[in-house]
Amino acid sequence: MAQSSVIVWMIVLAFISAEVSAFAKLIDRPLGEKVGITLNKIPESLHDSEAKTVANELSETQVISVNDELAIVSQLLDRVPLIDGHNDLPHVIRLLAESRLANFNLTDLSDKTPWSSDPTSHTDIVRLRKGKVGAQFWVAYTNCKTQHNDSPQKALEQIDLIYRFIDLYSDTFQLATTAQEIEDVFGTGKIASLIGVEGGHAMGNSLSILRIFYRLGVRYMTLTHSCPTPWADNSQLDNPGQRPIHGGLSGFGEVVVQEMNRLGMMVDISHVSVATMEDVLNVSKAPVIFSHSGAFSVCNHTRNVPDHILRRLANNGGIIMVAFYNEFLSCGKSANIKDVIRQIEHIRNLIGADHIGLGGDFNGVDRVPTDLDDVSKYPNIFVELLRLGWSETDLEKLVGTNMLRVMRRVEEVKQELAFTEPIEEWIPIEDLRPEHKLCLTDYV
Ligand SMILES: *[C@@H]1O[C@H](CO)[C@@H](O)[C@H](O)[C@H]1NC(C)=O
Ligand SMILES: *[C@@H]1O[C@H](CO)[C@@H](O)[C@H](O)[C@H]1NC(C)=O
Ligand SMILES: *[C@@H]1O[C@H](CO)[C@@H](O)[C@H](O)[C@H]1NC(C)=O
Ligand SMILES: [Zn+2]
Repeated sequence: MAQSSVIVWMIVLAFISAEVSAFAKLIDRPLGEKVGITLNKIPESLHDSEAKTVANELSETQVISVNDELAIVSQLLDRVPLIDGHNDLPHVIRLLAESRLANFNLTDLSDKTPWSSDPTSHTDIVRLRKGKVGAQFWVAYTNCKTQHNDSPQKALEQIDLIYRFIDLYSDTFQLATTAQEIEDVFGTGKIASLIGVEGGHAMGNSLSILRIFYRLGVRYMTLTHSCPTPWADNSQLDNPGQRPIHGGLSGFGEVVVQEMNRLGMMVDISHVSVATMEDVLNVSKAPVIFSHSGAFSVCNHTRNVPDHILRRLANNGGIIMVAFYNEFLSCGKSANIKDVIRQIEHIRNLIGADHIGLGGDFNGVDRVPTDLDDVSKYPNIFVELLRLGWSETDLEKLVGTNMLRVMRRVEEVKQELAFTEPIEEWIPIEDLRPEHKLCLTDYV
């Protein structure tokens, strides 16, 4: 069934070169230029009118005050790992370099063709260091065209690519698979590198592939991308005029969530429909995550999360990691750091500071806020929030301690379920439509 077909395809497709050009994750490109602000200047996008007055009447003491805020943020990021939930660098390396690490140096891509002119290239080592990123979930993404075809192979190739760049730049990166490992790697001064799979079609409807992902170090799976799977509805089905297929998770979808709980793999419900969010929140024994989403009541994009779900997320103990895609922030083509702050503040006002993080979606989108346009700019967010009166404790939560807590709880649930056996269910064959089975053999 699904398992065997995957192996057959892996062998066959190992001899076929990848159709790399077909992998554009977002089609709207090119886009406008990026305008950044440097951290040793007064940020232009001060949030409230009071702060604007301060900026206008800039005096020497106030410059010192800004430097003080930067110093506070800098010390905070030395103390607590800044954990970003979603970065698509592996996808862009596949697109721009055919996954050949020998052909470029990841240290500084800011003036290297084709990276410097590509609107989806926001990440290199120099900028990660400048942004004081402490831990990064690197995403093994495979697009919806691969569903019911070679999606497990493509996901495995992306996981291999993540391992290869961790190894090649081992002075900078080190694999982490637990909360403790994040802290340990951060303590050595390296960037803890974690792996997430996006989306659920990557597992080819097979719990065996899901378990193998876990063994390879994958610590979250986004249940869908921009297509439904045979077991979960995606966010686009919530758009006006669209109709649900399963109305959330199918029975097998619930089994997928149960097996992820048992494995200790976080369930990522960015990209899913609201009904799927509800069903996952009903079924999951562990906290769940939104690795890159925003608040629907700030911008009513279906990739964002309605308030009633945010309240359920708080009860679940999970986390929403705010994405920096302009379309989710402002519902428009352009956005700036104020739009990010508005999202963060809405979520904190609604459910408190314990359930927020950052999942920029850098390298996965082509339009990012003007003053938050690459991975070097994270500190700008914390400076703005300090000015709005955020305590250092709340900032630490947003930066990383919330995510560490979520991971620890997911690891505890794994321990609590350690007496249970791997789930040996297969997706019911009647859940697959004829076009889903074209690549399946009848091997039992
Ligand atoms: C990349 O360039 C840096 C210097 O900018 C060098 O130290 C490093 O060894 C290079 N790494 C690779 C893998 O080529
Ligand atoms: C999940 O909970 C919601 C509301 O709490 C309910 O409407 C829905 O039927 C539940 N789904 C499942 C699968 O239990
Ligand atoms: C968002 O709001 C606009 C304006 O009210 C409306 O036209 C659109 O359909 C809404 N989108 C969704 C997904 O609800
Ligand atoms: Zn995504």
